[in-house]
Amino acid sequence: MRAMRAETFSGYQGLKLIELPKPAVTKGKVLVRITAAGVTPLDHTILSGQFHGSKPPLVLGNEGAGVVEEGGGTDFPVGSRVMFFGTYGAFEDGTDSEWVAVRKEDLCLIPDNVDDVSAAGIPVAYLTAQVALTLAGFRAGKTVLAPAIGGSIGNAVTQLARALGAKHAMSSTTNHAKAEQAKALGFNEVIDTSLEKLADGVRRITSGYGADIVIDGIGGEVLSEALGALALEGSLITLGYSASRKTTIDVTNLIVPQASIRGLNMFAQPKAAITDAWKVIVSLLKAGAIKPIVAKTFPLAEAAGALRYLIEGRPFGRVVLTI
Ligand SMILES: NC(=O)c1ccc[n+]([C@@H]2O[C@H](COP(=O)([O-])OP(=O)(O)OC[C@H]3O[C@@H](n4cnc5c(N)ncnc54)[C@H](OP(=O)(O)O)[C@@H]3O)[C@@H](O)[C@H]2O)c1
Repeated sequence: MRAMRAETFSGYQGLKLIELPKPAVTKGKVLVRITAAGVTPLDHTILSGQFHGSKPPLVLGNEGAGVVEEGGGTDFPVGSRVMFFGTYGAFEDGTDSEWVAVRKEDLCLIPDNVDDVSAAGIPVAYLTAQVALTLAGFRAGKTVLAPAIGGSIGNAVTQLARALGAKHAMSSTTNHAKAEQAKALGFNEVIDTSLEKLADGVRRITSGYGADIVIDGIGGEVLSEALGALALEGSLITLGYSASRKTTIDVTNLIVPQASIRGLNMFAQPKAAITDAWKVIVSLLKAGAIKPIVAKTFPLAEAAGALRYLIEGRPFGRVVLTI
């Protein structure tokens, strides 16, 4: 089978299209013919040699969608469409390939109203977003900020918070054109940080109240600005570093509102947290209350270009490989 493998963790040129044996189906695993694979910043972190625990050679791709060929039993009959995320593409070979033997517990049936390309970009973003909201104690009526409306996490948190009854589901972008695009797509609480500071935008939208919950995948100055937007007893969950792993914070942004900050690692989640998150996500997908956004697809052979487009082009929506 064809697979796009990182032979070395030395940047884009480390990726090579190669032939590998089709995986064997062992107990508890389901053979899935991959139709589409989501491209994520994790691929870039690994390919740059900056992710703990990953070792080359490694087929990248942390999430995907496809069709069950064998081993799914009655839960996932042959021919059923599935999507999944797990340690694939990080600690074992991933979804940038024609087949993957997937642990049954990682699979989720794709609702009929969602196509494979959209489905491939759902697991990482939406599971992370839902797990983060739960961890932060989200309930209807809360005010939520998730920076970067065009990014996968920012968009998924905003869509979920809105669908689940947030009083305000706010996001941001550093790019004026993306702010306009967001408005056209119906995201009405997006702060254009080329015009206004993040915390000022949050105070304006919430009439001075602030954000009960911030879910941040950007790090750097965005994280430090977002801390200044927290409401009394608010909490910020840091889970990514698209801008930077490092930042400086004003500690009074935590002290004065008695706010808190904590981290989230999706590879360390208990199974029950993922199962519960899938239930919420699938029901909102079926109801059409959340709608995954795909910016562009690339064929498997152009995986390097796809990743470069995600990281350097900063598109609005997901980048997906068609296999
Ligand atoms: N902890 C976990 O388990 C976990 C799970 C999932 C993801 N993550 C991490 O979370 C982070 C976000 O993932 P994602 O999929 O949402 O990324 P993404 O789709 O690539 O979006 C990132 C967004 O960040 C903004 N950005 C990029 N560089 C920036 C900079 N220098 N300054 C300010 N904003 C910048 C851009 O928005 P604008 O151009 O609109 O400003 C961009 O669209 C990544 O680091 C990812 O690895 C971690």
